[in-house]
Amino acid sequence: MNKILEKFSLRARLGLLYAVLLISSVVLVSYYSYWNIWQLFINSKTSHLRARAKPIIDHWLVDQGLTNPDSVQMNFTHQSALVLSRDLTSRDAVAIVLNRQGEVIANGRRLPEEPVAPAPDTRYFRKALSGMNEITYWSEVNGKPVLVFLIPLRPQPGSRHIFGVIQVSTSLADINEILFRHGSMQITAVAIILMLGIAFGYWLIGLSLKDLQNLSATCREIAKGDFAKRTKVKNRKDEIGKLAESFNLMIDKLENMFNSQKRFVANAAHELLTPLTGLRGSLEVLLRGAQDDPEATNRLSKGMYKEVKRLIRVCDQLLGLSRLENSSNVGKRRIVLNEFIKDFEQRGKLLAQGRQIVIQEGPLLTLMADPDLLEQILFNLLSNAVRYSPAGTPVILGWKLIADYVEIWISDRGKGMDNKTLAHVFEPFYRGKNENVTGEKGAGLGLALTKSMVEAQGGTIRIESTPGNGTTVFFTLPL
Ligand SMILES: Nc1ncnc2c1ncn2[C@@H]1O[C@H](COP(=O)(O)OP(=O)(O)OP(=O)(O)O)[C@@H](O)[C@H]1O
Ligand SMILES: [Mg+2]
Repeated sequence: MNKILEKFSLRARLGLLYAVLLISSVVLVSYYSYWNIWQLFINSKTSHLRARAKPIIDHWLVDQGLTNPDSVQMNFTHQSALVLSRDLTSRDAVAIVLNRQGEVIANGRRLPEEPVAPAPDTRYFRKALSGMNEITYWSEVNGKPVLVFLIPLRPQPGSRHIFGVIQVSTSLADINEILFRHGSMQITAVAIILMLGIAFGYWLIGLSLKDLQNLSATCREIAKGDFAKRTKVKNRKDEIGKLAESFNLMIDKLENMFNSQKRFVANAAHELLTPLTGLRGSLEVLLRGAQDDPEATNRLSKGMYKEVKRLIRVCDQLLGLSRLENSSNVGKRRIVLNEFIKDFEQRGKLLAQGRQIVIQEGPLLTLMADPDLLEQILFNLLSNAVRYSPAGTPVILGWKLIADYVEIWISDRGKGMDNKTLAHVFEPFYRGKNENVTGEKGAGLGLALTKSMVEAQGGTIRIESTPGNGTTVFFTLPL
């Protein structure tokens, strides 16, 4: 079954389900209402006939002197039975009277237009003879349905002495005809409703699935390499609309990621190419004969050494960035922060180039962090503070506790950054305008690396800076 269903499209399967549900509910409701109408007709017909029969029988019992059990033997004759059966027979119904042996002793039909009585059914006759009052059943006369009911004859109501049974029958042809007309009308109406309903349902399902089809077409185009493609969504409120929206959002993110990846590779190549080009230039000069000039050789070698140092540093930083993409490279250990910062201050003095490092001591605390990464973070931030602030100005290092995190900051009194630089500082290879920088030019990888190192340990980083007023870099680490 599953295998067969899988061959059909989702639309066909949903359509089939919808059609089955619609057909079965409509058929059930129609059948139920048909059955109810039929019951109603039968009940009203029976009660009408019974109500008519009762006073006639009562009257007959008195008239024929049958109200006394002792006189029954004598007075219940063919003749008296014929009177009763004729009284009860009309154009609608025919009555016959049976004695206790089940023999028909009188038949009320006189005229050809009066209905023909069906042969008595001994099963029901015996039940009536045993005293059951409300016996009603269906039978057939010449292939036409008739409704039959039996009334036991007793001298007094409630008497145990039953001396005969009256069988009254009436044709059901009229009810059949009415119900047939009603039924055919209902079947036509149901067929029209079903056809319209199924067509509408199929159209509605198709409409809902259109967005899914669009989505899969877009996926195929993106797979072919057209990253600018997005899927169009008409109905944005339903689940498919939400799926398409999420899909577009995901592709936006992926496109950004791919683009930044491309930028990264291009920038990295450029960053490596610059010192390599410098090296090639120096080597060419040397090869053209400059090696005979000791002064030129010395100058070129120094330049080449600087370029190689720069190459190694950039490669180191790039390696660091790629290593941090795998969080298993973070080895957390317990660190007493106060001691760690004091050690770092000692080592940082060399880097600070005579600037004063002011420590704004926070609470005594220990945290779980990777000491190498923490040292590298502080080192990068300190080197930026030193590089981008004038000689003689202090660098401030401090920390405080925020809930389950420690916030550490490094602040300088340098020239600060404008908003444009601030918006891009964490991008790899991004460098600000940096005029009058102390020391050599950086690759623009320091803050990108720092951010990765902070985030690899579960922390966050932000920068506050106003041009001319210095910069403060804050980062948090979980305790
Ligand atoms: N403390 C600061 N004051 C002013 N500008 C800063 C400061 N720190 C960073 N910047 C700006 O942000 C840019 C990016 O800094 P980042 O540390 O990533 O790279 P870099 O210092 O240029 O090179 P690298 O750190 O790779 O040697 C810098 O070029 C500089 O313009
Ligand atoms: Mg830097």
